[in-house]
Amino acid sequence: MYTRRVISRPFGITGVEAAVVGQGTWHMGEDRKLRKDEIAALSFGLDLGLTHIDTAEMYADGGAEEIVAEAVAGRRHEAFIATKVMPSNASYRGTIEACERSLKRLRTDHVDLYLLHWWSGRHAIADTMRAMAELCAAGKTRFVGVSNLDVAQMEAAQGALGGIRLACNQVLYHLRDRAIETDVLPHCERERMAVVGYTPLARGGFMRGTVADIAKRLGKTPRQVALNFLTRRPALFTIPKAARPEHVRENAGALDFTLTPEDLSAVDAEYRS
Ligand SMILES: NC(=O)c1ccc[n+]([C@@H]2O[C@H](COP(=O)([O-])OP(=O)(O)OC[C@H]3O[C@@H](n4cnc5c(N)ncnc54)[C@H](OP(=O)(O)O)[C@@H]3O)[C@@H](O)[C@H]2O)c1
Repeated sequence: MYTRRVISRPFGITGVEAAVVGQGTWHMGEDRKLRKDEIAALSFGLDLGLTHIDTAEMYADGGAEEIVAEAVAGRRHEAFIATKVMPSNASYRGTIEACERSLKRLRTDHVDLYLLHWWSGRHAIADTMRAMAELCAAGKTRFVGVSNLDVAQMEAAQGALGGIRLACNQVLYHLRDRAIETDVLPHCERERMAVVGYTPLARGGFMRGTVADIAKRLGKTPRQVALNFLTRRPALFTIPKAARPEHVRENAGALDFTLTPEDLSAVDAEYRS
C-alpha cells in the first residue's frame, strides 16, 4: 500500500509543486448563459486546491481565458495557469504575439506554463521554441511545455529550446487510452518532465467493472478511482474539466485514499491498451 495525502507534487524539473488534479476549461466561455456557473466552478475548484488551471487561446476563441481571469480575480497567486499557442500562430513573432493576447485576456502579467498546443509542421519548431525561450526570459511565462508531441518531436523541441528544459508534455490519457505508457511516459520520466493527462474522464463516459467495484469497497466513486489510477506515478498529473460544482467536489476527492497494489493491477489488467 502507498499513502497519498498531499494533492501537490513537484512539477517536472521546475522546482515548483503543482496540484496533481487540476481543472480543464475546454468549452468554457462558449455560451454566455453558462458563464457565471463556469467561473463559480473554477473558483470553487481553487478553494478545494485544484490550482492547476489549463486553458488555451483556442478554447472559445479566447473566451475560456476570460473565464479563467474572472475565476482567479483577486487570487491570481493561488493559481498555476497554463495556456497554449495554436500551431497556426506558432511562428517566432506569432508565438510572442499570441502570448501577449493571452496575458491580456487572462488579465495577468505572466502565465505559469506556456505550451505549444500540438505539432503541425506549419512553422519551424526552432522558431516556436526561440519565442518560448524569449517569453520565459522576459518573465511572461515561468515555464515552457508542449502538448500532443511524440518522443521524436519532444526531442526536437528540447533541442531547439537549448538551455531551458521542457517542463511537461500534455497528452491524452484516460483508462481506455493509455498509449502514452509505451514511449511518451517513460521518456518524460527519464527527462524529469511532468505528464499532464487530458480528457481523463473520457468526457464523462460511464465507468463500470473494476473501477466501480473498487469504488464501492472504498466508499468512493468510479471516476475518483480512475483519476487516482491515472496519477499513480510521480510524473503524472491530470486536468478534468468540470463546470458543475458536484463534479468539481468529486474530482477534488480523487486522491484522499489509497489504491492497493492489487487494485492497481486489477485496473491495469482491465484497461490494458
Ligand atoms: N492539449 C490538448 O490537445 C487537449 C485536448 C483536450 C482537452 N484538453 C484539456 O483537458 C481538459 C479535460 O479534458 P476534456 O474536457 O476533454 O474531458 P474530461 O475532463 O475527461 O471530461 C469533461 C466532461 O466530464 C464531465 N465531468 C467532470 N467531472 C465529472 C464527474 N466527477 N462526474 C461525471 N462527469 C464529470 C464534465 O461535465 P460538466 O462540465 O458538466 O461538469 C464534462 O462534460 C480540457 O478541458 C482541456 O483543458 C487538452
